[in-house]
Amino acid sequence: MKRSIGFFLSILVFWGAAQAETVNVLCSPDLAWCEQLGPAYKAATGNDLEFVRLSSSEALARLRAEAANPTFDVWFGGTGDPHLVAFNEGVTEFYKPSTWDDLLPTLTSAVGETYIPLYTGAIGFVVNEDLLAAEGVPVPHCWADLVDPVYKGLLAMPNPNTSGTAYTIIATLIQLFGEEEAFNMLAQIHQNVAQYTRSGGAVGLLAGRGDVGVAIQFLHDGVKYTKQGFPVTNFSPCEGTGFEIGGISLIKGAPHPEDAKAFIEWALTPEAQMLAAQKGDSFQVQSNKNTPVPPESPDLDSIKLIDYDFETYGSAEVRDAIVARWTNEIFPVPR
Ligand code: G6P
Repeated sequence: MKRSIGFFLSILVFWGAAQAETVNVLCSPDLAWCEQLGPAYKAATGNDLEFVRLSSSEALARLRAEAANPTFDVWFGGTGDPHLVAFNEGVTEFYKPSTWDDLLPTLTSAVGETYIPLYTGAIGFVVNEDLLAAEGVPVPHCWADLVDPVYKGLLAMPNPNTSGTAYTIIATLIQLFGEEEAFNMLAQIHQNVAQYTRSGGAVGLLAGRGDVGVAIQFLHDGVKYTKQGFPVTNFSPCEGTGFEIGGISLIKGAPHPEDAKAFIEWALTPEAQMLAAQKGDSFQVQSNKNTPVPPESPDLDSIKLIDYDFETYGSAEVRDAIVARWTNEIFPVPR
């Protein structure tokens, strides 16, 4: 009897060790990139990876909901503000990777020791010029252009309740114009929006297919649709624009913390980061300065970037209040 209990226990220990080889990842970039992670991680380390894809705001909600009993080990990608909120609320914890000094100093200094920068990219307009020409409407070059009623039914943007891209867009308008004017503009833009999408990446497809003329999203997502053969062109707004410092975070109380750290270490190597552009349809500038910038990536030096206030817009109070205001004041208005 004793021997069979011992045998049973050793099976359990073995099973536990085998289980510990699987890292559970909450993945927020484009699905095509998320799908590359498992096979590449397995090939590089022999370890297994499982992932669930959720947009950044949905991911934050999920992590908040299961904070007392986390099921994920790592949150991979997604816009930075919700990573900051998660850190500030103790849902994630800072892990300093061995590659920290290889990460672009502009990114690490902007977020401090809160979450780990994974990539960066700027918001802009992904435009179907043929459709706008057919409608007799000019290409918008400025945020202020988007309030013009000539764009009625011709715009698409994501919903901030699910999408981190949408929150970046709204926070950008507030930083450029002040909160009251930004909400005035959002009310007028709402009248022109044909569709709010769940994820930030999806709006470019609507522009590509000709369902709308202008998708407001990250410009590197526009690159993806252009590469896929859709007739879209990138424009960056004349007043300036916001950007993301997409993140990777260790979940506090992760079921497999050592596996989580091993995955984070791998994910920050140039080999892992190069997967994004090579196989993952994702053209951000990656955070490791030794990762080559894909030639197709929007040139961030030629875009007028605002001095995005990550500390303010990554605070839970500010973020929750902005999303609630948009949800109560803008979204329900008939259009
Ligand atoms: C796309 C972009 C990423 C961004 C992400 C945010 O996948 O390529 O750079 O971080 O959107 O997704 P979300 O669905 O939360 O707007």
